[in-house]
Amino acid sequence: MYRIVSSKPLAENIKKIEIEAPRIAKKQQAGQFVMLRVNPTGERIPLTIAGSDAEAGTISLIVQGMGKSTKELNSLAEGSSIPDIVGPLGTPSHIENFGTAVSIGGGVGTAIAYPTAVALKKAGNHVITINGARTKELVILEKEMKSVSDEAYITTDDGSYGYHGFVTQKLQELIDSGKKIDFVLAIGPIPMMKAIAEVTRPYGIHTVVSLNPIMVDGTGMCGGCRVTVNNETKFACVDGPEFDAHQVDFSNLADRNRIYQSEEKTSSEAGDH
Ligand code: NAD
Ligand code: FES
Repeated sequence: MYRIVSSKPLAENIKKIEIEAPRIAKKQQAGQFVMLRVNPTGERIPLTIAGSDAEAGTISLIVQGMGKSTKELNSLAEGSSIPDIVGPLGTPSHIENFGTAVSIGGGVGTAIAYPTAVALKKAGNHVITINGARTKELVILEKEMKSVSDEAYITTDDGSYGYHGFVTQKLQELIDSGKKIDFVLAIGPIPMMKAIAEVTRPYGIHTVVSLNPIMVDGTGMCGGCRVTVNNETKFACVDGPEFDAHQVDFSNLADRNRIYQSEEKTSSEAGDH
């Protein structure tokens, strides 16, 4: 059993949950995830590890209550336990000193962009972060992103805070201003990652995205997480979750993620496990 040490709201419907998982905390690297089950009969869900404290033996997850299991996870009280967590899974982010690296988090994707921004800073990059949300109340990890940035930007779609516009527009502005950008990491909703890939493609800027397909086992056995990258089938759970944005077939990913939408809705409405 894995004890929930703390569970704190970050924004509406989004929580930061710290869980006792010493072995995972010791091994975790940026870009990796865990598979967890909220109750013994529930579905297994993949969640990227937002950070870990090897000394305290804890990992942190940032969870948006979207489907049945994530809502259930967010409702668990501090001190209660999760029966089943496996990890760390996936290939860690490839980190090196690229020069100027931009880490872009869209909405909850910021939870994943943050640990990679930390690793990029540690490797000696000039780190620029762009942290986008629909509106001011949905901006998460502002302080944390700023603390590892040489330049930090917040964007909101409605202009209620920071730059008025999408993260893509801010990135385009930076490129247009003549800033030399060597590497871009973008994590967020699929349309955002697709749009970022199109912004950087004409300039040949190496761009990486973290994909979130449906996962079942998380270990390369079931094929549930297959994605098309450079016209080849890859398994996001073992070959990724990070891939070259210019080679990802985003339409295929969006179609596959829609497959179970009606079952998810039925399960949520019925209160199934
Ligand atoms: P959101 O819809 O509020 O979007 C966040 C930001 O992304 C926006 O503020 C905007 O700046 C940018 N954006 C969105 N659509 C865009 C477009 N068409 N063009 C350019 N920029 C765009 O995000 P949210 O509600 O927090 O995110 C929810 C989605 O993100 C879910 O579908 C979730 O599954 C996904 N997600 C993905 C990952 C991942 O690993 N890739 C991680 C967490 C969440
Ligand atoms: Fe089963 Fe990746 S989740 S192969």
